[in-house]
Amino acid sequence: MGYRMTVRIWRGTAEGGALVDYPVAVAEGEVVLDVVHRVQATQAGDLAVRWNCKAGKCGSCSAEINGRPGLLCMTRMSTLPRDAITVTPLRTFPVIRDLVCDVSFNYRKAQEIPSFAPPAGLAPGEYRMWQADVERSQEFRKCIECWLCQTVCHVIRDHEDNKPAFAGPRFFIRHAELDMHPLDTRDRRPQLRNVHGLGLCNITKCCTEVCPAEIKITDNAIIPMKERVVDRRYDPLRRLFPAWRRK
Ligand code: SF4
Ligand code: F3S
Ligand code: FES
Repeated sequence: MGYRMTVRIWRGTAEGGALVDYPVAVAEGEVVLDVVHRVQATQAGDLAVRWNCKAGKCGSCSAEINGRPGLLCMTRMSTLPRDAITVTPLRTFPVIRDLVCDVSFNYRKAQEIPSFAPPAGLAPGEYRMWQADVERSQEFRKCIECWLCQTVCHVIRDHEDNKPAFAGPRFFIRHAELDMHPLDTRDRRPQLRNVHGLGLCNITKCCTEVCPAEIKITDNAIIPMKERVVDRRYDPLRRLFPAWRRK
């Protein structure tokens, strides 16, 4: 059964803005993006919102629904209160207009991570890996770059000044994917610790809770990488024999 409700959408630019109420009809089975599109089609033709696949695969439609980061296209109206909801842009990144943010912070952090470096002389096609190693990095590759984990992490959500020293959970998984790759020859840990701020993460697990790809960011990437960083720093055998390297 359909019903009517109020959708409160943040409207504005980097200079400022406010929540605007839109009374709107909701049909059974709809998601928040359907309702936002109805507002755009009937009452606010200039409303800015990013979306593309409408299937939880492109990562474009990230926003905050009643203050919780989520994908507009994957959040069912039936899971939300029936009288009113608020839809606001990602809080951690600067607003461009309405629900559209400037997420270039994330692309800058991505560029800082050196690419995969296989052993010299090993050509593509000659790579041999255990299936377990393939599966481990496969989980991390499910990332759709929606930046929900980045926006929810309090280290930068509540502390703008931490941004230069913190890459965020999405890039902790990228480091983990490469560091756990049996054919990668770089030691990723110094950058992860000294430049990308792994130590600032205090394992709140909020990133894992919001990840639409259901990647176990904290348990499978962050905690193992924290252990690897500590292992390298404090292992007395490694101090005696620094040439030792273990993947
Ligand atoms: Fe989105 Fe999950 Fe990737 Fe973070 S790790 S950007 S929440 S898909
Ligand atoms: Fe942030 Fe995730 Fe750590 S939310 S504090 S990166 S566990
Ligand atoms: Fe692609 Fe929502 S529109 S993830």
